[in-house]
Amino acid sequence: MTAQLFIHQCYELYSEENHETWRRLYARMLPRWEQYANQHFLAGIRSLCFSPDQVPLLKDVNKFLRPLTGFEAKAVSGYIPAFLFFDCLRNRAFPTTVSIRSADRLDYLPEPDIFHDVAGHVPMHTDRNFAETLVRFGECAHTAAGLVSEIRDEAERVRTLTSIVKSMARFFWFTIEFGLMRAGDGLRVYGSGLLSSYGEIEHAIESREVQRYPIQLEWAINQSFEIDHYQPLLFVVDSFDHLFSLVDRLEGWMKEGKLSQVAPGEPQVNEADLKSFLDAPSR
Ligand SMILES: [Fe+2]
Repeated sequence: MTAQLFIHQCYELYSEENHETWRRLYARMLPRWEQYANQHFLAGIRSLCFSPDQVPLLKDVNKFLRPLTGFEAKAVSGYIPAFLFFDCLRNRAFPTTVSIRSADRLDYLPEPDIFHDVAGHVPMHTDRNFAETLVRFGECAHTAAGLVSEIRDEAERVRTLTSIVKSMARFFWFTIEFGLMRAGDGLRVYGSGLLSSYGEIEHAIESREVQRYPIQLEWAINQSFEIDHYQPLLFVVDSFDHLFSLVDRLEGWMKEGKLSQVAPGEPQVNEADLKSFLDAPSR
C-alpha cells in the first residue's frame, strides 16, 4: 500500500542555489550540534558521511544507513496522512521531503524540507534503540486502527480515533521532534525539530524562558502545542530505552481507553489523517 507514496528524487533538478542553501545550513549547524546534540546524533552524522557542500542524494545516504538499522530515507512530495506515515516507520521507511527551503528563508519554516528530514531526523535513525522505538510507535498506529474498528457506533468511533491520534501526535511532537535527553549533569537535544533549527537548538538548552521537565506520559498526551514559535515547554527522557518503554506504555494506555478522551486543543486532527486510520487494513 505504501509503494505509491514514494517518488523519485530528481537530483538534476536541484539548482546551484539549492546546493548553496544546503551548504550554508549545514556549515552553521555543525558547531551547534557539537555543543547541543546528543551523542547518538553526533555518531549518526559521522556514520552517514553527508557532503557539507551538496544536497544529499537519498540513495547514497541509504547505503550507510540501511546496514545499521534497516531504515531507509524514501522521497515523498509532501504531507502523508498520519496512519500511512506511522506505517512507514513500522516498515523502517522514513518519508523524506526532498525539496529545500529558499535561500532567503534559512530560519523559519512551517513545513519540513530536506534539511529538516535528512539532517535533523535521519542521523537519529542510525541508532539501534531509537530505530526500534520508531518501529514500535508505528505498531501503535496499527493497534489504534484495530481498536477503533471494533467500535460499532460511527460517531463514537471517530471521536475516539480523533483523541487517540491527537495523543499520538502530541507524544511524537514532545519526543521525536522536540525531545531533550539527560546527559551527565546537563541536557542534550535529540528531537529533530530542534536539531534542524539554528536558533531553537540553543534556545532549547540555554534559555530561561523554556520550562524543561522529566517526561510524564499523562502530561505529554494532554498537552497542546503550537508550531509557529519556539517551544516554551520541553520534556526530558533519560535514554532511548526509557523512550521505548514510554511507547510501550502508550500502547497499553491506548488499550485501556486512557487515550480516548485526552484534553482538547492542538493539534487538530484532519479528515485525511482520520480516514487513513479508518481505511487501514486489518492485520
Ligand atoms: Fe520532523
